[in-house]
Amino acid sequence: MKYDFNEVIDRHNTNSVKWDFNKEKFGEEDVIPMWIADMDFKAPEAIIEAIKKRADHGVFGYTAPDENYYKSIINWMDKHHNFKVEKQWICPAPAVVPALYWIVQSYTEKGDKIIIQPPVYHRFKGAIEDNQRIVVENPLKLVDGKYYMDFEDLEKKIDSKVKLLFLCSPHNPVGRVWTKEELTRLGEICLKHNIIVVSDEIHSDLVFEGYKHIAFPNISEDCANNSIICTAPTKTFNIAGLQVCNIIIPNEVLRDKFLNALKINAMGDLNTFGIVALEAAYNEGENWYREMLNYIQCNFNFLENYLRKYLPEIKVIKAEATYLAWVDFTALGMKNEELRDFLLKKAKVAFNDGYIFGKAGNGFQRVNLACSRYTLQEGLRRITKALNGLEKNI
Ligand SMILES: Cc1ncc(COP(=O)(O)O)c(C=O)c1O
Repeated sequence: MKYDFNEVIDRHNTNSVKWDFNKEKFGEEDVIPMWIADMDFKAPEAIIEAIKKRADHGVFGYTAPDENYYKSIINWMDKHHNFKVEKQWICPAPAVVPALYWIVQSYTEKGDKIIIQPPVYHRFKGAIEDNQRIVVENPLKLVDGKYYMDFEDLEKKIDSKVKLLFLCSPHNPVGRVWTKEELTRLGEICLKHNIIVVSDEIHSDLVFEGYKHIAFPNISEDCANNSIICTAPTKTFNIAGLQVCNIIIPNEVLRDKFLNALKINAMGDLNTFGIVALEAAYNEGENWYREMLNYIQCNFNFLENYLRKYLPEIKVIKAEATYLAWVDFTALGMKNEELRDFLLKKAKVAFNDGYIFGKAGNGFQRVNLACSRYTLQEGLRRITKALNGLEKNI
């Protein structure tokens, strides 16, 4: 191992959303934060060096992506996902969440419906409701500890008002990597009903051994022409603060609508350091990426083994992708508020409450495992201690 992911880096006093705002966010200063989806790891050396070099130049005027920027994305997508991207399909943007808002504004009218598959990344619902569109829920089914899409329910929920479907691929928070069969069936239903698929593939590089991410346009040419793909190097390389992402739209008509949304929202230039970081990440980050993914997989194994041995009533859903563990606390028999209070006030750990991802998340928590093994161990030790204390009080 070349990189030391065990190193605990003090992130306090860096304006870190995860580490510097515990009191404001949770009302508790001394919790271990394992919630928002960034990593506690240092980014690859190649990114740090590229940023330093660019910083040394000292002039930070308006910046635009050049040929090398586009090539870096095209090569990465081809090598990792066999996704053959053409340069003109790529629409750079600062981040996926604002892009989701512009997507809603570009392809729907107020009062139109958009389908989501909860429990799912909570900002999907926000992007729809904040724009006065209507959320239609097509909940995933949990069968023997694994989540599946419910196609019968999906077809029942579709009417002429449904214009978009937000697909989370791989899925945050349940950790599924959708199979070719699942994506094909979904794609066909959407084609049949003229529903554009917005495939958020921000977690697509974070897929564990034995699973393969399929870029949605690889399903078929028709699906490619009926889709909008959200990608970024920000989750993969821990550079979310640098604000860089790429919305890939193969269909020219759909692409023009999105580009118009960028225009009318005056979304012009990219962040200078975002461009530099993306190129370094995609061109030189491979070794770091492989080792990081292996470390995350080991953190998942550690979590599973620990729970099995010391806290068997708490179950973790088997993850196929992402660094976000979807953990089932329902056997503790606590209501949402009680579970939240217990974890924050007694155990002193801060996770994401499962219910923010939808009703099916009641009693669940999303736990961010992109941290050092020490942090994970300490979080689990705190829960164990708090639960033991609870038993003694009973
Ligand atoms: C599915 C998904 N989409 C988008 C985002 C956020 O992306 P960005 O930081 O580019 O807005 C996240 C972050 O957790 C996510 O899980």
